[in-house]
Amino acid sequence: MKNELHKDVESILVSEEEIKEIIDNLSSQINKDYNGEELTVIIILKGSLIFASDLIRMLDMPVSIEFMRVSSYGAGTSSSGFINIKQDVECDIEGKNILIIEDIIDSGNTLYKLKEVLSERKPKTCRICTMLDKPERRVADVDVEYQGKVIPDEFAVGYGLDYNENYRNLKYIGVLKKEVYTK
Ligand code: IMP
Ligand code: MG
Repeated sequence: MKNELHKDVESILVSEEEIKEIIDNLSSQINKDYNGEELTVIIILKGSLIFASDLIRMLDMPVSIEFMRVSSYGAGTSSSGFINIKQDVECDIEGKNILIIEDIIDSGNTLYKLKEVLSERKPKTCRICTMLDKPERRVADVDVEYQGKVIPDEFAVGYGLDYNENYRNLKYIGVLKKEVYTK
């Protein structure tokens, strides 16, 4: 292994192979549920970018893509309970089927607030698809319609997920060594 990033990874949480299976499962469910109806996906930057790009290529309805950037974490490893919208969608979502694509749900605070904000704009439907879920850490009671994999309370990096903007380009999802973020 040449990649320098591997040395900070304690163990592999989701392998490349398992990521493919997760995407196959989620896309089948989504294709079945929307049954050809148009869908607007909102990709939550930056962490969901890689997951979303793989997922949406497996969808078979007409899909349009929007991006949002919301801050919750800063440089640390726990959420702050409010969101700050740093970049908003460019379209009017009223009457549209909205699917929010998120990398991971931890406390649930980010998505709880985001769903609240987007629902006020009167979409036809507004659902959430997350690749990973850490239910042990949940604080906000948010409904998640599509959930890739439940993981334990560990700090995950790779496949879009970062710590301090690093590790997003790992092809798998791993547990970050504690010594890296307690330094
Ligand atoms: P929540 O508001 O606590 O649910 O935080 C959700 C956001 O925190 C996610 O979109 C991630 O950006 C970040 N996050 C939560 N857990 C992890 C993790 O294990 N690794 C990397 N980012 C995480
Ligand atoms: Mg994120």
